[in-house]
Amino acid sequence: MIRSPLMTVMVQAARKAGRSLVRDFGEVENLQVSLKGPANFVSNADRKAERILHEELKKARPNFGFLMEEGGEEAGTDPSNRWIIDPLDGTTNFLHGIPLFTISVALVRDGVPFAGLIFNPVTDELFIAEKGAGAFMNDRRIRVAARRALSDSVVCCGMPHMGRGNLGGFAKEYAAIAPKVAGLRRTGSAALDLAWVAAGRFDAFWERNLSAWDIAAGIILVREAGGYVSDLDGGEKMLDKGDIVAGNETMRRDLLALVRGA
Ligand code: IPD
Ligand code: CA
Ligand code: CA
Repeated sequence: MIRSPLMTVMVQAARKAGRSLVRDFGEVENLQVSLKGPANFVSNADRKAERILHEELKKARPNFGFLMEEGGEEAGTDPSNRWIIDPLDGTTNFLHGIPLFTISVALVRDGVPFAGLIFNPVTDELFIAEKGAGAFMNDRRIRVAARRALSDSVVCCGMPHMGRGNLGGFAKEYAAIAPKVAGLRRTGSAALDLAWVAAGRFDAFWERNLSAWDIAAGIILVREAGGYVSDLDGGEKMLDKGDIVAGNETMRRDLLALVRGA
């Protein structure tokens, strides 16, 4: 596969930030036993990775703007192009020594995800996609799964937990969906969930209350892998509303119908 100059820049930045995260992840395992715990350490690791991404991307494309989970918004002189970055998606996993976390970098052009990268630096799985050029994992072309029946599907979701989400609403969705699918999963990284839908590992995914940096890269990955993505009203306002459903055409439609009917 031929990598565009834009994607080369994104990959270099993510690999550098990934090395920093992996070093810190090693430390986190030692800190599990300390009384203070690794929480402060993890937020430093998070900020460090974001600094690296910002520095590298800014150097390569000085005019682009930024929306970063930790650093917020930074206007660019180019009004069309904006990086949307989550330097560490799956913070709770990272904090607990669970190797399921990702760096998520998207380039949004005129409001629409144009290029996306999702990288798990522990497993060294790199998912990339650019509009019109397909989706890849470690340079191999990926496609969404072809299954058509929910009864054969493994579906991934987000779940409410202490201080987050609407438990009653989720309980209804769970009751509607769980009996209809072969398996239900929750990884703790929405970016990873979307990358795995793009790679055909999960058949579909839905979640509410997300932020643009959790899903911007995943949206282009799923689309370029031949999949479909919408918000939970069936529209395209995922980045504004923060809710999302993804899968192949049939899976997305059927899962959306269950979520809306719950
Ligand atoms: C979280 C993860 C998780 C999702 C949460 C997000 P963070 O991001 O994507 O899967 O359920 O809503 O906030 O905090 O680990 O960057
Ligand atoms: Ca996140
Ligand atoms: Ca994060």
